[in-house]
Amino acid sequence: MKAVTIRVPASTGNLGPGFDCLGLALTLYNEVTFEVIDGGSGFAGVTVDGEGQGCIPTDETNMVVQAAERLFDLVGKRPAAWRVRQQNGIPVGSGLGSSGAAVLGGLMAANALVNGCVEVGEILTIAAEIEGYPDNAAPSLYGGLVLVIKNNGRWFIEPIAVPPLRVVVVLPDFDLPTVVARAALPKEVPLTDAIFNTGRVGLLLRALEAGDYGRLAVAMQDRLHQPYRLPLVPGLVAAFEAGRAAGAAAVALSGAGPSLIAFAPNGHEAIGEAMAAAFASAGLASRRWLLGVETAGAKVLSGSGARV
Ligand code: HSE
Repeated sequence: MKAVTIRVPASTGNLGPGFDCLGLALTLYNEVTFEVIDGGSGFAGVTVDGEGQGCIPTDETNMVVQAAERLFDLVGKRPAAWRVRQQNGIPVGSGLGSSGAAVLGGLMAANALVNGCVEVGEILTIAAEIEGYPDNAAPSLYGGLVLVIKNNGRWFIEPIAVPPLRVVVVLPDFDLPTVVARAALPKEVPLTDAIFNTGRVGLLLRALEAGDYGRLAVAMQDRLHQPYRLPLVPGLVAAFEAGRAAGAAAVALSGAGPSLIAFAPNGHEAIGEAMAAAFASAGLASRRWLLGVETAGAKVLSGSGARV
């Protein structure tokens, strides 16, 4: 039986001021396996283990399957009969890039299974098109810290080397679909807010490159999305402030939320506890992870094909 397994890391988008342009891959993973099966025809279903089990669709509306179908259509090749297994470590709807990881897993598994020869840049283009923004797919695909912008209709990727960093992610038990978090944003922003963010993105890159937690405190402030999104979740503002008060150099909404990510050189346990306590005071349970930076990005763990 021919099979291919892809591992895709989680990602945190925006990193404060870098709305839709900056993302960082994290050491939390989804694995997806595509199996060609004997007999039958076409897509034969999905099994899901781990995060999202019981709520991720197992029919053809599944994001992994939809992404795979898109790639099969693109290359004009598809297996006669195939099924999918998902082993998910990335919480769904958390702001940690679970949907981007699902899309990448589907595209890369499909590509490897049929030797589609679709290049990594094209994989990102398709993933960003499906997602509507690139700052989760880009770091999950390439690994590390990635700046991604569109230039003349093409994605321009700038990987930025960062030293090992440790972050705490705290996820409140609250449903905040990305589409709702994006709908909360204004269509236009004041020039002063644009200037506020532009300078901080520059500073943020320098701070992350240097692993300089001191400068992160200034650099990770944002006026383009967080002020509009933080009020959407009970306890989010309090948890944000609790993380800083407990010693985090910087706290930001991870992607569109509802999770928060805190950067600190040490004291991660106390920071996570303080943030969780703030959510608890607002009546929300939460889960938390201590994570590092995933440098390698998505890869084929077993089966045919090279990196993509
Ligand atoms: N940049 C996107 C947003 C990321 O903030 O809406 C979503 O995870």
